[in-house]
Amino acid sequence: MQIFNHIAEIKNYLRKEQKNGKIIGFVPTMGYLHEGHLSLIRRAANENDMAIVSIFVNPTQFGPAEDFERYPRDLQRDVNLAQQAGANVIFTPDVAEMYPQGYKTYVEVQEITNTLCGASRPGHFRGVTTIVTKLFSIVRPDRAYFGQKDAQQAIVIQQMTKDLDMDVEIMVCPIVREKDGLAMSSRNVYLNPQEREQAVVLSESLALAKKLIIQGERDAFKIKAAIVDKITQKPLAKIDYVSIVDAQTLKDIHHITNRVLIALAVKFGSTRLIDNIIVEV
Ligand code: PAF
Repeated sequence: MQIFNHIAEIKNYLRKEQKNGKIIGFVPTMGYLHEGHLSLIRRAANENDMAIVSIFVNPTQFGPAEDFERYPRDLQRDVNLAQQAGANVIFTPDVAEMYPQGYKTYVEVQEITNTLCGASRPGHFRGVTTIVTKLFSIVRPDRAYFGQKDAQQAIVIQQMTKDLDMDVEIMVCPIVREKDGLAMSSRNVYLNPQEREQAVVLSESLALAKKLIIQGERDAFKIKAAIVDKITQKPLAKIDYVSIVDAQTLKDIHHITNRVLIALAVKFGSTRLIDNIIVEV
């Protein structure tokens, strides 16, 4: 497995591979890899000639009061895990490599970035779309793999690649969960034992919402109320948002008739967790 820190070097390496006809699968990450990331890497390795993984904690997608500095990092562990999962190349640049002095260009997707996580994290998606665009132009992947856990991110990136005519297929892969249902996230390590125990309420409340819909409930307000009620039974949980939106447009839904995304963000102390489910009626 090859590891690159510099843009010029990985470009040079990959352009040769691509000239030889190699099909490239790409998994962009911020490191501290967990089973969710590894499932993306395995899939990228299975479906392409080469699997490229980037590990870069992207400062432009963190707000000033967010956890950029303390975001968990362990490069050696990530390198080992990525290699075992089938990665052929790791790209791990530093901040100055990606945003050198004088950097001035940002990529912004409108409207669908203003709701859900975009409403509580202003500027977050601008940082994501900017770094993903840069990574795509460095790697030039045929396919790029993202997790459904970041449902809004996947939709925003699909919109961006469509709008900007980028020649990459976006593959959205299922959420990987702990045994008790908690969606895997690098941020789960921040949770203390009590918070970790109560955090299972995210997936439990989504399961409850799905059950209500299966039983025939179509009123989004009632379903949201049931979710809020379940979450607020956990004393350490503080709701950021609970939303029921159209799974494509991310517009609020009042009466459920179609394919809906039920998404939530809940804080435990300073740790903000997200989870979601898509339900079709
Ligand atoms: O999902 C993530 O880990 C990040 O938002 C991404 C896509 C790697 C961009 O920094």
